[in-house]
Amino acid sequence: MDRLPGFRDFYPEPLPHPDVWSADARQYIFDCWREIARRYGFREYDGPPLEPLDLYTLKSGDEIVGQLYNFIDKGDRPVSMRPEMTPTLARMAAAHERNYKKPIKWFAVPQLFRYEKQQKGRLREHFQFNADILGEAGPSADAELLALLIDVLRIFKLTSEDFVVRLSSRNAWMEFFEKRCSDPGKSYEFFQIIDKLEREMPEESSKKLSAIGFSLNEVNDFIVAGKPTAELESIVNNLSDRGLAEFVRIDYHVIRGLAYYTGVVFEAFDKKGEFRAIAGGGRYNNLVKLISGGKVDMPALGFGMGDVVLLELLKSRGLLPAFDSGIEAFCLIEDETLRGPSLKLVQHLRESGYAVDYFFTLTKSDKQFKRAIELKARFTVKLEITAQQELVVRMKNLQTREEKIVVPPDLPGLL
Ligand code: HAM
Repeated sequence: MDRLPGFRDFYPEPLPHPDVWSADARQYIFDCWREIARRYGFREYDGPPLEPLDLYTLKSGDEIVGQLYNFIDKGDRPVSMRPEMTPTLARMAAAHERNYKKPIKWFAVPQLFRYEKQQKGRLREHFQFNADILGEAGPSADAELLALLIDVLRIFKLTSEDFVVRLSSRNAWMEFFEKRCSDPGKSYEFFQIIDKLEREMPEESSKKLSAIGFSLNEVNDFIVAGKPTAELESIVNNLSDRGLAEFVRIDYHVIRGLAYYTGVVFEAFDKKGEFRAIAGGGRYNNLVKLISGGKVDMPALGFGMGDVVLLELLKSRGLLPAFDSGIEAFCLIEDETLRGPSLKLVQHLRESGYAVDYFFTLTKSDKQFKRAIELKARFTVKLEITAQQELVVRMKNLQTREEKIVVPPDLPGLL
């Protein structure tokens, strides 16, 4: 039986086949994400992978709603696998915001599901690092979030040669829109056209823009001028104080596809333009109010970074570390009468925090030794009985080949 298209199998390294993904690489990415979140004082949360369908049809926008894995459950409830984390976060924060001091700084690493056309950088399931700040309306929160995004990419040893964060503002686009169009009902359609500008033929975009009273030329002029709003200027200055200004660029091509964004929006891309967006996010000041039915009104902002593009980028730049299991000790059991005391030794070492392995059944000595080498054990340890009937451990350092005889209680301190 094959797995479904767009889904992945994660295997431990060394990988058995090029068509599978590395569980070790995935763990490395998760560890780096969590480490940066910790440095920035973000706390981890999680929610259910299955949600009521309404949570997404309310405000995420047509594109993502068209990609939902939704169905009717056995209790006749319309439900959906989560395609993104932001609506869940808005619901969770609204439910218990009184218990948390503002600003709330939370992160999550959910697995998300979108019925997308499978292509480079886009699958039907991915893991996404989400970092969000709730309860702060000023641009210093936007700058803090962008600094976090930049540092997440830098912890993987990516530099300003490798990536750039393209910074934009829906406020700037809204002002552009309102100066030329008096029908606010058309703004969503307008934003969708701008979002697709770089992916569509100019004739196609031009036709769509003319249909709602805009010209492609005026849109392009606005993008080329790239005049930062006061808010964007303040964010760039803040990042400049941290020495991070070289990682951002004002770029009004970015407007974001999701419907709920209200202000500053941004996307991170590799500089060579080989890959899809590495991350994307922005302000969504009305979503908490909408999802809580007007009960809680809280400004919010955040971003999501998927593991798929990030891994492709790290692989292509040779930035993934080598992964091996690297245990501390392999216990050789060559005399079955010593299996009991050997298990006691293994247990003692594991309780002392060491990674230890051994063979479950009687196995030839050379095979046991070979397995120790394959597992990259630092030591082999073997129980022996001396002429004085004393139980000792022969420990061998597999790198230096140096051997030592010690008594079992001393072993943990010597590894
Ligand atoms: P998004 O732009 O839809 O935003 O996704 C963010 C990132 O997730 C993308 O830049 C990409 O790296 C990754 N991604 C998205 N879809 C796929 C896919 N089908 N396969 C692989 N990777 C994918 C959001 O989801 C917003 N909820 C982010 C956010 C958080 N905004 C505020 N807070």
